Amino acid sequence: METIKRRKVKDLLQEQPGTEVLAKGWVRTKRGNKQIKFIALNDGSTIYNIQVVADTAKIDEDTLRRVTTGASLSVRGTLVASVGSGQAVEIQAESIEVLGECDPVRYPLQKKDTSLEYLRTVAHMRLRTNTFGAVLRIRHAMAFAIHKFFNDKGFVYLHTPLITESDAEGAGDMFQVTTMNLENIPKKKDGTVDFSKDFFGKKTSLTVSGQLEGELGATAVGEIYTFGPTFRAENSNTPRHLAEFWMIEPEMAFYDIEDNMELAEEFVKYLVQYALDHSMDDLQFLCDKYDNGLIERLRSVLGIAFQRVTYTEAVEILEAAVASGVQFEYPVSWGMDFQSEHERYLVEKHFGKPVILIDFPKDIKAFYMKQNEDGRTVRGMDVLFPKIGEIIGGSERESSLEKLEARIDELKMSRKNLEWYLDTRRYGTVPHSGFGLGFERLLLFVTGMANIRDVIPFPRTPKNAEF
Ligand code: 4AD
Ligand code: MG
Repeated sequence: METIKRRKVKDLLQEQPGTEVLAKGWVRTKRGNKQIKFIALNDGSTIYNIQVVADTAKIDEDTLRRVTTGASLSVRGTLVASVGSGQAVEIQAESIEVLGECDPVRYPLQKKDTSLEYLRTVAHMRLRTNTFGAVLRIRHAMAFAIHKFFNDKGFVYLHTPLITESDAEGAGDMFQVTTMNLENIPKKKDGTVDFSKDFFGKKTSLTVSGQLEGELGATAVGEIYTFGPTFRAENSNTPRHLAEFWMIEPEMAFYDIEDNMELAEEFVKYLVQYALDHSMDDLQFLCDKYDNGLIERLRSVLGIAFQRVTYTEAVEILEAAVASGVQFEYPVSWGMDFQSEHERYLVEKHFGKPVILIDFPKDIKAFYMKQNEDGRTVRGMDVLFPKIGEIIGGSERESSLEKLEARIDELKMSRKNLEWYLDTRRYGTVPHSGFGLGFERLLLFVTGMANIRDVIPFPRTPKNAEF
């Protein structure tokens, strides 16, 4: 037999009948009768299966016995027009080789419970389900689109460190990084830990944000973005928090808060449009299976301008809501940090569209945000989305050295660890801005999945670091 090249199922489904093909993949189902078997084969390249038709006159009984759900196959045959498979073509098998058997008795997905919670406990099968195939392909498409968006605009992808000494974000508790023997920690004379004996000679942690390093990049090459893992040891067991998540942080010299908001809005709309243009099969599957409103909701954010509203106005809206009988778990007052119930009220009930909140009380935001003239608010911005709440957080940065130093002192932060950062304000400081998009929050929106654990292949949450 002449050798032919294996091609992916996605590609074969577009091919003309009559073509000789070699397909490889995993068995989704097998059915049929004594004379003929129908095997649904999937290789992960698409949500769709290709049907393999095996005539028992051609394919021996022992091989067909080993073709069970989950087994991996190499199939050689001819494409023929299909009547029953739901696809235009199917493979009339000439030969089938079982590459790897899958014991039907021990196959974990034949258990009744195939809930998303149960799937989280079977790592290998979880990723092979239709749901995770769709999620993983969309996740990839979004990652690619993010690089494309920034590349097309001339931004530089900056790699910021994962191990860091600064906890400057104040975004949450950090995971410490150490090679010290925890059974025998070196101590100083006064009894405190002697970090000079640790690997880096100082106390280090996993980063909660690449922003501060990103600002150094932006004030050097103008416009940068980071895209990497981010770690927060906050004990938030919610459907929207991970201990390890991915964040995209663009940082731009010469951008004020208006430019920043414009970029953020353009960016998320671009990503949603990209998903609609490139991942429709997977979106349609998720829409049908989990969330009938998904595609409509994606389209709904494209045509309209996001609502811009100040924090103070938003508090007034929420107070009016409370006065008219709306109940929130957390009470509303100026100075509070909004909970997702408040964010979702604004987005879903009050405005009915994505909201960009600006001008927050300085006490609930990080030290680096540009201070407004009123002395009590800062030029921060949060982008709020339906069903998610906050998807982006960012700000114009304080570019004045004096104001920044005063704020650091006011917050009793250590200036010593931040001198490298403050130098950007000493040597040719510029107005600049940036924001952070939580990659998995974006994916929650785009896939319509309800739990953030189900949009990342290997979720890390409190008390859970399996696989
Ligand atoms: O609002 P955050 O804390 O902002 C920053 O870290 C800034 N340094 C960003 C910047 O200006 N460069 O986080 C940004 C986004 C949030 O809006 C949210 O989408 C996501 O990161 N996020 C999380 N996603 C999953 N799990 C968590 N625990 C998250 N914490 C934040
Ligand atoms: Mg935030």
